[in-house]
Amino acid sequence: MVKRYKVLVGGEWIGDDRPGVDVINPFDDTVVGIVPEASADDVEMAIESARRGFAEMAAMPAFRRAEILARVADFIERDREEIAEIIAREAGKSFKYALSEADRSAETFRFASFEARRSHGELVPMDASSVSAGRFGYYVRTPIGVIGAITPFNFPLNLVAHKVAPAIAAGNALVLKPATKTPLSSIKLASIMAEAGLPAGALNIVIGSGKVVGNKLVEDDRLAMITFTGSPPVGIEIKAKSGLKRVTLELGSNSPTIIDEDGDVDAAVSRCVVGSFANSGQVCISVQRIYVHQRRYQEFLEKFVAATQQLKVGDPMDRACDIGPMISRYELERAVSWLEEAKELGAKIEAGGQVIGNCLAPTILSGVTPAMKVVCSEVFAPIVSVLPFETFEQALDMADDSCYGLQAGIYTRDINKAFQAIGRLDVGGVIINDVPTFRVDHMPYGGNKQSGLGREGVKYAMEEMTNIKMVCINL
Ligand code: SIN
Repeated sequence: MVKRYKVLVGGEWIGDDRPGVDVINPFDDTVVGIVPEASADDVEMAIESARRGFAEMAAMPAFRRAEILARVADFIERDREEIAEIIAREAGKSFKYALSEADRSAETFRFASFEARRSHGELVPMDASSVSAGRFGYYVRTPIGVIGAITPFNFPLNLVAHKVAPAIAAGNALVLKPATKTPLSSIKLASIMAEAGLPAGALNIVIGSGKVVGNKLVEDDRLAMITFTGSPPVGIEIKAKSGLKRVTLELGSNSPTIIDEDGDVDAAVSRCVVGSFANSGQVCISVQRIYVHQRRYQEFLEKFVAATQQLKVGDPMDRACDIGPMISRYELERAVSWLEEAKELGAKIEAGGQVIGNCLAPTILSGVTPAMKVVCSEVFAPIVSVLPFETFEQALDMADDSCYGLQAGIYTRDINKAFQAIGRLDVGGVIINDVPTFRVDHMPYGGNKQSGLGREGVKYAMEEMTNIKMVCINL
């Protein structure tokens, strides 16, 4: 019997009388659960419930919010194996990466618990101007209100945590629309948050299409903010439709890695294998373009191909599995068609290229050109291109020649070149001596250009999720 799930709205578990949506295991196409599909009326109910939840959250002292968030972290740690199974089954993420996502999510809530206690404003030196000398000024940060959070399939727990944890830490309430393909992690999180003592209405879940659920959240004036992670076209549409709401967008990338002549090739190889292929490349900061100094190119390519061929592709529930399926047959076929286009335009497959069930074998390309989709668009699949360069300046130009700007990785032992890259690249994060896929959950994270708007990372998300209230006292 396939389990029918309910969703949390206004502190009640509801929805088993609604039309159901199947949640499909992308590895073997079996149904792993049925979730209720929200109607426009359900979204209305969730928004009203969040408004009541907000009143309670905004009045809650910081130490209580911190205690709830710390308990959520504890309970995620307690249930990490169960959570990893949920992630592996609904998202097709290999169990070992799913476990690491569960652990990261606990840490995200732990950071939110710390930040809830220390979020503060500051004194404003009013005597800096002759006009205001004699006045006393300071500002405080106040919660923004009801936040609509729209999250993707690729990190079905931790990218939800990156919206829910800072929102609650700052005293807000949410209506969460998780990806329809991966809602079970969010349902599990909601049950943990209720168990941890989150007030009714502070977190409400609605599952459904962008047309019905997404549009209503984006267009409704009772919401103060939309926080979205997903594709650039959807992000642009959200921004256009959201009126005066605050909007943060974490969008895509075709992240580059540069390996200079003096870079540590062995270290780069082992990190590029993880950075390019973890979660079948379905990571916004996945390594997509690797630029290698021409004197190290052959050495890097041979070692990279050999290491990639060791990866185990298959059932995510197999504890030894490295690479699971792509999220859907549609996405798999799309990735294969991009590979075909690259081959027709002269690219060579150095490793991989085969479709194995619903998985694409980790694929390395050489001989690519900047106009190929596998290079210039976000591939979001286990496909990476390796390109040679002559000078470091040329590598920086090629790395920066992108409509995206999320993170970039640079392997060099030359501190001057490291700083040259830091100054030159138009990205949200420069990672020296590691791949752009490096992320810990308290660092500011987000992109420039078409990679997005605003920053996540608990403290930085809380800044986005609060308003500044200035207080000025005429003494
Ligand atoms: C993302 O795909 O944007 C998230 C990457 C991460 O958190 O590691």
